[in-house]
This record gives sequence, C-alpha cells and structure tokens, in this order.
Amino acid sequence: MEVVIVPDAKAGGAVIAEAMAGLLRRKPDALLGVATGSTPLPVYQALVATVRAGAVDAGRARICQLDEYVGLPAGHPESYRSVVLREVVEPLGLTEASFMGPDGSADDVPAACQEYDRALAAAGGVDLQLLGIGTDGHIGFNEPCSSLASRTRIKTLTEQTRVDNARFFDGDIDQVPHHVITQGIGTILEARHVVLLATGEGKAEAVAQTVEGPVAAVVPASALQLHPHATVVVDEAAASRLKLADYFRHTFASKPAWQGL
Ligand code: F6R
Repeated sequence: MEVVIVPDAKAGGAVIAEAMAGLLRRKPDALLGVATGSTPLPVYQALVATVRAGAVDAGRARICQLDEYVGLPAGHPESYRSVVLREVVEPLGLTEASFMGPDGSADDVPAACQEYDRALAAAGGVDLQLLGIGTDGHIGFNEPCSSLASRTRIKTLTEQTRVDNARFFDGDIDQVPHHVITQGIGTILEARHVVLLATGEGKAEAVAQTVEGPVAAVVPASALQLHPHATVVVDEAAASRLKLADYFRHTFASKPAWQGL
C-alpha cells in the first residue's frame, strides 16, 4: 500500500480531492464511495471548492454510502444518508438521484444489506472508496474480528465506537444506535481504489498496525494490505508511530507527478 504523509488534515483533504477530481476528469460518471465522521470533511470541502472553481465538472458523478445507522428515523440529521446529502451530494450540486445507500430503516435488514451489495455491483462497482479509521482499527463499521471476506451486513458497534460517536448526538451515548449496516471488508476491497485518511494522534496506533502490522481481523483496516491499489493518507500526528515514515516520505517526494495517487 502507498502511504502519503501530509502536514495536516487540510493538506490530506487537498491530496485526496485532487485524486477524486482526476478520476472525474477521466471518468465523469465515476462512483465515489464516501465515509462519514469528522475525518473526511476536509476532502469534501476541497472537492467542492475544486468544482466551484470550475477545475472539474462533477455533474455526472455518482455517490454511494459506506455505512448507515440502523433504527434512526428517516431524515434524522445524524443518519448517514442525511450527513452525506448535506456534506457531499448537495454541495457538489448533485441530487438524490445520483446517490445510493443502504436502508437503515428497513423492516428486513438482512434483505436490505443484500440489496445494497447487488445495487453496488449493478452500478458497475465503486471506483474510489474513501475511508476513515476507528481508534480500534475499524473501517466502515467492521469492528475488530470482522471477517476479512465479509459482505454488507448488520454489525454491533463497540462501546468505544459509541463513545467516540456520542459527539454527534449532543454527547449523549444513549442516543447512539447500537447497530449499523456496513459494507463488509470484502465489499470494500472490491472498490478499484481504496483511500484511507487518518488524522490526529488518536489514530496513530491504529495506523501503525494497519500499515506495518500483520493482516489480521483484529485490525480490520489491515485488510487493505491485500488490495492492489490502496492509499493511506496520514497527517504527521497520525504518522507518528510509523517506523517506516522516512521511507514513505522519500517515496512520495520522488514520485513522478503524472502518477497521481
Ligand atoms: C463512517 C465510518 C467510520 C469512521 C471512523 C472514524 O462512515 O465508516 O469508519 O470513518 O469511525 O470516524 P472519525 O473520522 O469521526 O474519527
């Protein structure tokens, strides 16, 4: 996997937004898989700025969700559908017609999960999947010991993840759902390009295990080592426990500009 060390979150957002813009220039109807949470916001802000500056046309882009809470009422402001519409789809000038996600309020959740995997395949597969990482190494909401071959399914959040996410629910952990629908690790690995962004000291240990540890279900993000085109973008704080940081810096600095991410 390629590791790109950037000074800060804003620089990480710019690097990834440029990769997305490059993809949209080559393939205007690319399917972009987006994550929620705090980490990816600089990516969306940079991509929206690039589009508004006229440097790329995102009018035919398609957007798909990585995961969704189970049981939040439709339209809840913290449902991941609402978040992606608010942070990505609307600012890019797209409509809900360009957007797909799993139905977290379905009566038959397993059927909704299968339906989402089918819909992703029918859409031609994800071209670029953006990921954050949990402090416990989760990607999507594949918590530790998720099957590395897993498909989209329901998962139970760890208490740590619910504590981490309480900030989106007025700091009240009781409002954080216990269950989510998440693309499985096997589903995520089918994207043509997987890009993980991690920022801040709190992610440093998970990043070190992901990049330099063994492939192990206990660190779900380590499965990205199996992907032929995986890019891990980290700021200096999140890179602080990487033993090979100097090598990664040297490699990226020497990379021909035409290669992109
Ligand atoms: C969200 C998701 C999660 C987050 C992760 C990090 O759609 O899939 O894996 O990316 O929990 O969240 P933040 O970025 O808020 O630290």
